[in-house]
Order: sequence, then C-alpha cells, then structure tokens
Amino acid sequence: MKFFLDTADISEIKEAASWGVLDGITTNPSHVAKSGRNFKEVIAEIFEIVPGPVSAEVIAVEYNEIVAQGRTLAAIAPNVVVKIPVILEGLKAIKTLSEEGIKINTTLCFSPLQSLLAAKAGATYVSPFIGRLDDIGTEGMEGIRQLRDIFDNYQLATEILVASVRSPMHVIDAAVIGADVVTLPISVFKQMIQHPLTDIGLQKFLADWEKVPADLREI
Ligand code: E4P
Repeated sequence: MKFFLDTADISEIKEAASWGVLDGITTNPSHVAKSGRNFKEVIAEIFEIVPGPVSAEVIAVEYNEIVAQGRTLAAIAPNVVVKIPVILEGLKAIKTLSEEGIKINTTLCFSPLQSLLAAKAGATYVSPFIGRLDDIGTEGMEGIRQLRDIFDNYQLATEILVASVRSPMHVIDAAVIGADVVTLPISVFKQMIQHPLTDIGLQKFLADWEKVPADLREI
C-alpha cells in the first residue's frame, strides 16, 4: 500500500518525507489557500522534496479550461498528477489529457460509478472521499469495497486512492480491502505508529537497561 500525505504545508511534507515511508502528496485548493503561498511555486517546491506523485488540482469546470490548466500544471514537473473533479466536463478532459500521457487523479468521487467512469476515461488514480460520506451518515468504506471488486472484475489498472481519511481505522480497512493508496492528514500518519503498549514496553526496557552495570553496556 502506498502512503500519500494530504497537504500543501511544506514543513509537514519535510517531516513526513524524513520518515522514509512517504510515497507521494495530494493537494487541493483548500490546502493551497491555507499555505498562503503561490500555487505553482508551492507545487514545484513539494516536487523537490518528494520524488513521487504530487497531485495538483485544476480550478476550472469547463473542458477547455480544465485541459489548458492541466497541461500547465503537468509542465511544472515530471511527477505532477493533474487532479480533476469528477464532473462531465472533467471526464472529457481526463480522456484528452490521459491520451497525451498526463497522469490524472480524479477528485470528489463519492460513488463507485463516478470512479468507474473516471477509470474508463483513463484516470491513473480515483480518489473516493470516505470521511465526508461518514460525516453524513453513509459508510464511506463500503464504496471502497465495491470499487475494489469492480476494478478487479474488469482488470482496470486505475489505482484506488482512498481520500478524506480521518482515522487509523480507515487505513486498516482500506488496506484489508486492497486499496492501492491512502492519502493521509499528518495527524493520522503519526497515529499509525503509536501504541500505548509500545511506549510502556520501551520505558521498561530502558529502565531495566539502567540496571546493567556500566562496563557491561557497550553496544
Ligand atoms: C483528497 O485528495 C482530498 O484532498 C482530501 O482527502 C479531502 O479530505 P477532507 O474531507 O478531510 O477535506
């Protein structure tokens, strides 16, 4: 399973990259607004830190504009993935840009059918948002289960990128289902390594080590 960080915050990206298990980045217009930085500059800087896929989102809803913005974004760096909303105009743009060899991540997917259409149009990734579905009382993870089956039924190579992740349980469920990627807020990424028994066990080992005579402690 691949782990992406869902942010445009450079300090968070540097921190997560230092852990050695970060595969890529997803950004969205809200993340960029929060960063307070120039869009293209921040994407270019992220690419210098993370060699893996960096999703940058178009801010357009009409085919020609989506295609133009997609080409501009793709030219920033070789590993830019153009993020396009799953609307009809977006679908047409996914077809055009993917035929040009540009990698596409389809965003704001809330039903498996939206993701199936995006995959058929040539998307490299589809991003089903699970947390936002949970928020309205619909089990987001059920859509991931269905999507895994659908993509496997038709041997679709499009990767399932689970987005809007809110907790480590979402990550476990997505991994059990066989989703290809999860994109995580840094808080969830950090929670994944934590376990109280690890902390208690480590404290005990370190305390016991203090009982070993100094001349027997050399490592
Ligand atoms: C994914 O690409 C989105 O940026 C993100 O996961 C949305 O998450 P949210 O529902 O927490 O805003």
